[in-house]
Formats: sequence, structure tokens, C-alpha cells
Amino acid sequence: MKILVATQKPFAAVAVEGIKKILTEAGHSVDTLEKYAAQADFVNAVAPYDALIIRSDKVTDEVMAAAPNLKIVVRAGAGVDNVDLAAAKARGIVVMNTPGQNANAVAELCIAMMIYMSRGQFTPGTGSEIMGKKLGVQAFGNVGRLVGKKAEALGMQVMAVDPFIPAEKIAEMGAEPAADVKHLYESCDFVSVHIPATPETIKSIGYDLITSMPKGACLVNAARKEVIDEEGLEKALEERQDLKYITDLMPDNYEALKEKFGSRVFATPKKMGAQTSEANINAGLAAARQIADFFATGNTRFQVNR
Ligand code: 3PG
Repeated sequence: MKILVATQKPFAAVAVEGIKKILTEAGHSVDTLEKYAAQADFVNAVAPYDALIIRSDKVTDEVMAAAPNLKIVVRAGAGVDNVDLAAAKARGIVVMNTPGQNANAVAELCIAMMIYMSRGQFTPGTGSEIMGKKLGVQAFGNVGRLVGKKAEALGMQVMAVDPFIPAEKIAEMGAEPAADVKHLYESCDFVSVHIPATPETIKSIGYDLITSMPKGACLVNAARKEVIDEEGLEKALEERQDLKYITDLMPDNYEALKEKFGSRVFATPKKMGAQTSEANINAGLAAARQIADFFATGNTRFQVNR
């Protein structure tokens, strides 16, 4: 089979080597399309391929229509909001992710972001410590649970909420369960967001939740830009001069936010949560193994568009 690794934001070279090794040893051929400038370049490249390995690359119906042999797309990572799952299903294309494989990298970045904001973005002046502060983890999946564990080890109190995990289970996993999302925001000095972007969650975090946070609180978002209601965030930061926002997903209104709120807001220049060689290796190699297994045995364990 012909496999394309299409990564606008490339994997570390060592991960690409590993992907190629797994797939060529399984009898497949592998090409790469990295750092492509426009979506059209992706669309124009896919025609010969049976399988794609992607990251946040957008697999639209147009991409799939341009690849008549396409049988499987594996998102090396967790979120699949960049893939048109319904269109893939209609075309009989299997879509998988590689859950958990890049979670540690994202969790470490969340901890780093909390410390960075607590220490005034490493500029001179008196900062504060995260030890003793309360962290709210919004969604207790692979990343959220790791953030909770690491935060606890650093002396934070951890509260969590998850629409799919009952309170008893959250308590068993070592966090204080919040009654609901509102309770989490009201109770925590930091809230770290780990929800996917879905029709239900898009713009779900806005003025009301943000202004319900305690004095001096900081919202941390390494999940998705779309889950934030950016106008609501701007209004909340305007009204509450004590609140802060740090994110790995640059908001559309970042220029305005920076101008108005200066160091109370920070966004990484390019999404970097999963950008470690370890995470690239874990997620990239898992994707390659899943494709090799799919073609060898029909295994669809990680399919997300059934
Ligand atoms: C994910 O959903 O796995 C993360 O957001 C990482 O995305 P990336 O592979 O584009 O860095």
C-alpha cells in the first residue's frame, strides 16, 4: 500500500524514520509531505495514497475526494476535529486516532504554562507559587489526568469534572470531583481546559464562567481555540483586572488582547503542546503500527468514525 505522512507541522526526524521503518518492513511504501504552504498542496498530493498519517492537518471531503484509493486516515494524536468524520464514513474510510500517545507532552506544557504565568512570564518582579493553589481540570481524560497527577506532586489541590466520568470515579482517581463545570470555575485558582472541540463545546467557555473564577485566577488552554468564546474572554478580562489567560492556541483576537491586557495574556507562537520528540515518536509510531495492523489483520480498535 502507498502511505503519505502529511504533516504541515512535521514530526521530529527520528519519528519519521521510525514510521518509515515500521511501514516498509510491513511491505508498504511511505512518502512525506511536510510544511506544505496551502491546503491545495495537500489536496493535490493525495491522489495515489491508500493511507494517510496526519497531525492537525485538515482532512476535508475535498481531500478524500481527491484520493480515490484512500482506506484509512490515522491522526497521530488525540483530537479529530480536523477530520470530516461523517464524510469519511460515507466514503467507507476508517479514521483512527492514537489516544494518550502525546498526552504527557501536553500535560508538561500545561504545568509549565501555570508556572510561567505565576512568575510574571519570567520578567523581574514578585511572582507567586503554584504550591497550595487549587487546580481545576476540565475533562479528566488522558491529558487532564496527567496534569492532575503532576500538579498534585507539585503541592496543588486538584479538582476535576468530566461529563463522561462519574464523581466517584474521579475521586477514586485522586481528584476532588466538582459538582459541575460552574462549580469548578468558581472554586479554582487555575482551570486547565481539556475538552475537545465539538458542536456542544465550541464557544462554551466565555464571560460567565471566566468571571466566576476567584481573585487572581488563571485560565489555561492547551486544548482547542474553538472552545473559548473569545469575545466573552475579552469582556471578562476587561471587567476583571485580576484574571489571566494563557494558551497554546493563539486566539483570533490575540492582537487586541495583548494590546489591552499586556502580560495578563500569553499565547505560544505556534501550537507546541505535543511538539516533543518523545510525543512525536509515541504518536507517529503508534499511527504507523495501527496502519500496518489494519492492512494485515483488519484491526479497527482505534476507529473513531464507526
Ligand atoms: C492532539 O489533538 O493530539 C493535540 O492537539 C496535538 O496536535 P498536533 O499533533 O497538531 O500538535
